[in-house]
Amino acid sequence: MSDTNVARIASELFKERCTSKALAEEAWPVPDQDGEKLAAILEAAGWAPFHKPAAREYRVGDQDGIEPWRCHVLDAKQCRELRQRLLDAGDTTKIPKMLAVADYLIQVTWLQEPRAESDDSLFDPSIQNMEHIAAASAAIQNMLLAATAREIPNYWSSGGKLRSPEVFEMLGITSEEILLGSVLLFPRDLEGAQVKAGALRHSRSEVGQWSRRVEL
Ligand SMILES: Cc1cc2nc3c(=O)[nH]c(=O)nc-3n(C[C@H](O)[C@H](O)[C@H](O)COP(=O)(O)O)c2cc1C
Repeated sequence: MSDTNVARIASELFKERCTSKALAEEAWPVPDQDGEKLAAILEAAGWAPFHKPAAREYRVGDQDGIEPWRCHVLDAKQCRELRQRLLDAGDTTKIPKMLAVADYLIQVTWLQEPRAESDDSLFDPSIQNMEHIAAASAAIQNMLLAATAREIPNYWSSGGKLRSPEVFEMLGITSEEILLGSVLLFPRDLEGAQVKAGALRHSRSEVGQWSRRVEL
């Protein structure tokens, strides 16, 4: 592939990526899953830039990587199970409707620096925490682009109920981790599902509206 082809394909991919939320009332059958696609999407996350390693406290057990993010992956079967549990708990939001369709849910968390003192705030407003969030965001964007390149409809959600302590406990996510996004990957064929686009998709500004040239 020539450089110009790479640039052209990359710029198409950036524009092609879009939010697709797929919803259904009834649970869709659990499909045979393509582990290779999931592996490629996770691998893409692993190429995101990060400035500082995660604190040592987190680097234990199997997930002992230095990356300041963690990905907790639920396949379609687990998505249906989680849907049922949320419904049983009285959840009437869109989350169970999306879990009815999703092939995968990836709970992406970032690893805050250990705190000297705990207060009511979600995390300390330090540069290091900001950079961990930035790195984890880059990891999510890489995943969305990798999914888009494979024509997999995808959605970065704030999580709603998926960021609650009850769901964290159910999924075995430690309370020190902070959810940055619930990434939903849907089947390519969404016939029969309700599909919604991102609310701000068509409100984008021109480049000059958020960038300026600096001359000294
Ligand atoms: C950090 C983050 C959190 C988001 N959370 C939600 C969400 O909870 N609900 C939602 O409808 N869209 C959410 N979105 C998707 C945005 O609505 C979407 O990116 C925006 O409308 C632009 O559309 P596009 O992604 O198709 O370009 C989120 C996006 C980001 C980056």
